[in-house]
Amino acid sequence: MITYNEQTQTFHLKNNKISYILGIEENNYLTHLYFGKKINHYSGNYRYPRTDRSFSPNAPNAVDRLLSLDTLPLEFPGYGYGDFREPAHNIKLANGSRINDFRYESYEIQQGKPQLSGLPALYTNEESEAETLIIQLKDDVSGLKLRLLYSIYQNQSAIIRSSQIVNESQDVVEINRLASQSTDFPNREFELIHLNGTWARERQLTREKVHTGIKVLDSKRGSSSHQQNPFVALVESTTTEFQGEAYGFNLVYSGNHETVIQKDPFNQTRIISGINSFNFGWQLQPNESFQTPEVVMVYSQSGLNDLSQTYHHLFNHHLVRGKYRLQERPTLINNWEATYFDFNEEKIMSIVNEASELGIEMFVLDDGWFGNREDDFTSLGDWFETEGKLACGLVELANQIHDKGMKFGIWFEPEMVSENSELFRAHPDWALAVPNREKSLSRSQYVLDFSRADVRENIYQQMTAIFDRIPIDYVKWDMNRNMTEVYSILLDPTMQGEVAHRYMLGLYEFLEKLTNAYPNILFESCSGGGGRFDAGFLYYMPQTWTSDNTDAVARLKIQYGTSLTYPISSMGAHVSAVPNHQTGRNTSLEIRSNAAMSGVFGYELDLTQLTSNEKTEIKEQVAFYKKHRQLLQFGTFYRLESPFEGNDTAWMFVSEDQSEAMVFYFRVLAEASHPLVTLKLAGLLEDATYQLNDIAVSGDELMNLGFYIDSELHGDYATQRFYLRKI
Ligand code: GLA
Repeated sequence: MITYNEQTQTFHLKNNKISYILGIEENNYLTHLYFGKKINHYSGNYRYPRTDRSFSPNAPNAVDRLLSLDTLPLEFPGYGYGDFREPAHNIKLANGSRINDFRYESYEIQQGKPQLSGLPALYTNEESEAETLIIQLKDDVSGLKLRLLYSIYQNQSAIIRSSQIVNESQDVVEINRLASQSTDFPNREFELIHLNGTWARERQLTREKVHTGIKVLDSKRGSSSHQQNPFVALVESTTTEFQGEAYGFNLVYSGNHETVIQKDPFNQTRIISGINSFNFGWQLQPNESFQTPEVVMVYSQSGLNDLSQTYHHLFNHHLVRGKYRLQERPTLINNWEATYFDFNEEKIMSIVNEASELGIEMFVLDDGWFGNREDDFTSLGDWFETEGKLACGLVELANQIHDKGMKFGIWFEPEMVSENSELFRAHPDWALAVPNREKSLSRSQYVLDFSRADVRENIYQQMTAIFDRIPIDYVKWDMNRNMTEVYSILLDPTMQGEVAHRYMLGLYEFLEKLTNAYPNILFESCSGGGGRFDAGFLYYMPQTWTSDNTDAVARLKIQYGTSLTYPISSMGAHVSAVPNHQTGRNTSLEIRSNAAMSGVFGYELDLTQLTSNEKTEIKEQVAFYKKHRQLLQFGTFYRLESPFEGNDTAWMFVSEDQSEAMVFYFRVLAEASHPLVTLKLAGLLEDATYQLNDIAVSGDELMNLGFYIDSELHGDYATQRFYLRKI
C-alpha cells in the first residue's frame, strides 16, 4: 500500500479507495502533493508550480527566486524561514531561537500500525490490514529529529497521522506546539463543518464558509469539552449527505485540543490539528522524545454519510477494545432522573422489580451511594459505601439484582474531590491549584491532580476495593467540571506547561490499568453527559453518555451531530419522564423511544410511576429493541433528513448483508395542510424485494422513488418507524 519512487522522490500511500502523496523537493523539503480519491498511476510530474511572489522570501540556498516556503504546500511547516502561515511546530531551542528547519532525512515502511506509548490509538487485528510510513526529518543546527507517522488500512478511506520529536541535541528544548498533522490544500473553496455546543446541547452541527484568515476551534477546559468536539470536516459547498467531497479530521485525544484552519490570499487552505498549543510547554530532555496523539483523517468522495460510515467502521473495528467490542450492549435502567440522591433499598428494588418485569437487562445505580453523598456538595473522593443508605448494602443489592437475572452497574467520578470530603481534608494539596492562589469551585468540587502517581494510586485502590467486593458488571465514569488553576506542585516551575497533557497521560495510564484488570466490566464514559465524547475515550470505554439532555426533540440534533463521526454503538440514549427534566417538554413515549433506540437504549425514569398502558408499551419497546439491536447498534447508519435544516428528521440503519433495515422519521412541530413528504431510502440492495409494512417493494424503488410519509402524522413531536426485511 505504500511505495517510494526513487526517481520522482515521491511517497504514495494507496489502497482501493484513496491516495495520499508526498514529495521531497530540492533541498529536501517535504511537500504535500495530494490527498483524495485513489490515483492508480501517478506520473510524479504533478508538482506545485514555482512562482516568484513578492514578499515571499526564498528558502535558504534556493538557486533562484522561485522556491519559497511561503507558497509551497508543506507537509509539516515551521515558522522562521519564510512561511508566514500557521506552523505545525514551535519549539524553543537552548539559544532562545524558535527556528527548526526540518529537512527530509530517511524513511521506513512498517507492516501494521505501531501503538503509541501511553496514548490511545487505532490498532490492527492482523498486521496485514495496515502499513505505516515513518518519515524522518532533521534540523541540522539544533540536532532535533522529527518523525512523521502515516498509517493506511486496506479498504478504508483513511490516513492516520501523528508526529514525534526526538531530541538528539545536547540541550533541553521546549515544545510549545507540536501538531499531530498539518495538511495544505492548494486552491480549494472549502466549507467547514464542526461540532460545538454546551452542556445539554452538545455537538450541534455548524457549517460555514472558510474565509481568508485564521480560524481556531479549540478547548482549553482540560477535556475535549461540550463546547468544541475535536472533530472537524472540510467539504465542498455542494457536498451533501450523499454527494461531494469531504475530509474529516478526528483527534484521538480527550484533553485540550486545537484545530487551526487558515486560508491564505492564494486560496491555499492549511488545516492543523493537535494538542492545544495555548499555555503548552513541554521540556524535552536530551535523548527523550515526545509523541503526539494521532489524527484520523478520512476522505469521502460521496458525501457525509460515507465519511461517517468510515469513521464508524474504524472506531468499532480498530479503536474500541475488550469484551464488548462489536458485542450487543445491554438495555439498562438508570436511577438518576428517577430518584436523584433520594433513594433507599426499597425504592431501588421497586425500580429493579419493574425493570425486570419489563425485560430490561441492567440496573445502574447512579450518584449518591458513597461517603455522605446526599447532594452534590460533598464526598467525591470518598469511594466507600454509605453505611445504612441501602439497608441491605451494596453487595446484597447486587446479589438481589443478579438473582433476577439482571446485571448491576454503578457510578463513579474518580478524577474529582469535593471540598467537603475526607479525602480533601486529608490531602488538600491533591487538587489542581496554584500555590498562594485561591481555587475555583465548580459544582462544589475540585479536580484531582491526575498527573501525580500517588493521587492516582489512592483512587485506584479505593475503586478496586469496591470492584473486588461487589459484583459489578458496568461502570459509569463521570467528570463533572472543567479544569482551572492548572498547576501541579510536584513539578518544577519550568514544567507547568506540561500539566494538562501530563494529566491526560496519567488518566490514560489509569484507564488502561483498570480496564485490563476488570475485563468483564462494561465501561461508559460521561462528563455531564457528552462533555468528553471523543475517540480517545472510546479506546478505553466502548460507550459514552451522549448528553444529560434526554428530551427526544433535543436529542435529534445531538445524536445527528454526534453520528457524524462517532458510531451509534457508542451513544448512550435513554427514555426519560415527561415533562422532560431539562427542557420541560411533553412528548409521547413513542418518540422518546424512537430517539433512544437510535443509540444504546435505556430508561432513566421512575418505572414505579408508570400506568399499566405505559408499562405495556415499554415492554414492547424493550422486546423490539432487543430483537433488533444488532441492526440498531452496528448496522450501517444513514442520515436522510437533517434536524439542522428543517422540522423533519430521518435516519436509517441497514444490516451488513442489506437484508434488513430500520427507518425512523421525526416531525417536531405539526403543520396543518402539510405538503406531502416522500422519503427516499439508502443502502438497500437494488434488485432485492423488501417487505415494508404489508407491501413488497424493490430496493431501487425505495431508494429512487421512495415512499410517502404518513400524511396523517398528527400533533407536535410525531414519529414513525419502519422495519424492512428482504423477502
Ligand atoms: C452527571 C451525569 C448524570 C448523572 C450526574 C450525577 O451530570 O451526566 O448522568 O450521573 O452527573 O451527579
